[in-house]
Amino acid sequence: MIYANYAATSPALSPAVVKELRDYVGGTHLNAARNFEGLEAGAIALRARKAIGRLFNAADPLKVVFTSGATQSLNMAINGLIRQGDHVLATMVEHNATARPLEYLRKNGVITLDWLPCEAEGSLDAETVRKAIRKNTRLFVMSHASNVLGTILPAAECFTVAREYGIFSVLDMAQTAGVLPVTTGTGLADVIAFTGHKGLGGLAGIGGFVIGEEASREMRPWASGGTGSVSGSLDMPEFLPDKFEPGTQNTIGILSLAVSVEEILRIGVEKIREREQSLTERFIGGLEEIQKITLYGPREPDRRVAPVSVVVQGYDAGEASRFLFEKYGIITRSGLHCSPLAHKTAGTYPAGTVRFSFGRETREAEIDAALEALSQM
Ligand SMILES: Cc1ncc(COP(=O)(O)O)c(C=O)c1O
Repeated sequence: MIYANYAATSPALSPAVVKELRDYVGGTHLNAARNFEGLEAGAIALRARKAIGRLFNAADPLKVVFTSGATQSLNMAINGLIRQGDHVLATMVEHNATARPLEYLRKNGVITLDWLPCEAEGSLDAETVRKAIRKNTRLFVMSHASNVLGTILPAAECFTVAREYGIFSVLDMAQTAGVLPVTTGTGLADVIAFTGHKGLGGLAGIGGFVIGEEASREMRPWASGGTGSVSGSLDMPEFLPDKFEPGTQNTIGILSLAVSVEEILRIGVEKIREREQSLTERFIGGLEEIQKITLYGPREPDRRVAPVSVVVQGYDAGEASRFLFEKYGIITRSGLHCSPLAHKTAGTYPAGTVRFSFGRETREAEIDAALEALSQM
């Protein structure tokens, strides 16, 4: 079996994560106030917030908020930050985790919305952002990298423009957390959304966001409930992370993230990135030799992350994916990958593509085997 679907989910937990989860599940659970060193759930949460804070260069670990994943984080940021009559910008490579909540708000008359056109390879020019800004633009949502084309978008440049106009920025790092170094922390975006089960190597169903000071004041809570803090009040606390974390948390998911992000920090994101780039270079170099393959997204490894979308001449995407699995045991993903906008950008809508995405455990021999299989089709 060759796993080439890391962009959807990471295939296995590391031995260190498995060990700590096993110990946790087998033990007793002395649940106590969150962020209390020494008491179980709170200590685990704080441990994870510290590791994630370091990963995203957020000085204050309490600005790390846990959710069920990037989808919930993006919904919370979008719905919490916009107000009736606002104008919102987002790019033409966004995942449905962004596109659907925004379209819902637009169709229900809450916001006006512009989808910023990207080049066919998925890239975007910061000037496109500037030109689309209106007096009432309040929010700009952008993927750090396309989950279909792999293209890295110029987040820093685009958000610098947004900041000039006092527009809140939300960065979807579902495809880049743990893979691309973040050099400017929440200075880069007001909200950075991440998910646990892809590049971060945690369990599915855990994720979160890192939020800046002003956005945390402006963002309305997505839900209300008990926080174990200021319990005498019938209002949600205004302080972080309690403002956005009602109810009992997913401690086992949070623990998986604490351990896996600590490992990432020990290895170093730069190292992980270097290896991913070398695997991608090997794969794309090989693809270019195969005539039947049309490759979408940038070819240069420094302009992209791991997901590589292709069309195999003579096969529809689903057929090609099935064939690769049944004949060669290669697990890819076919179709629109929850991002019809990216396919409209690339010209592969509605047929979709076969997406290969290699990751941390991929060996060079597996890439060569995948290339060999494609050349036989
Ligand atoms: C770019 C992008 N955004 C958001 C998501 C949603 O992540 P999750 O399903 O973990 O909430 C994904 C996952 O496929 C993604 O690739």
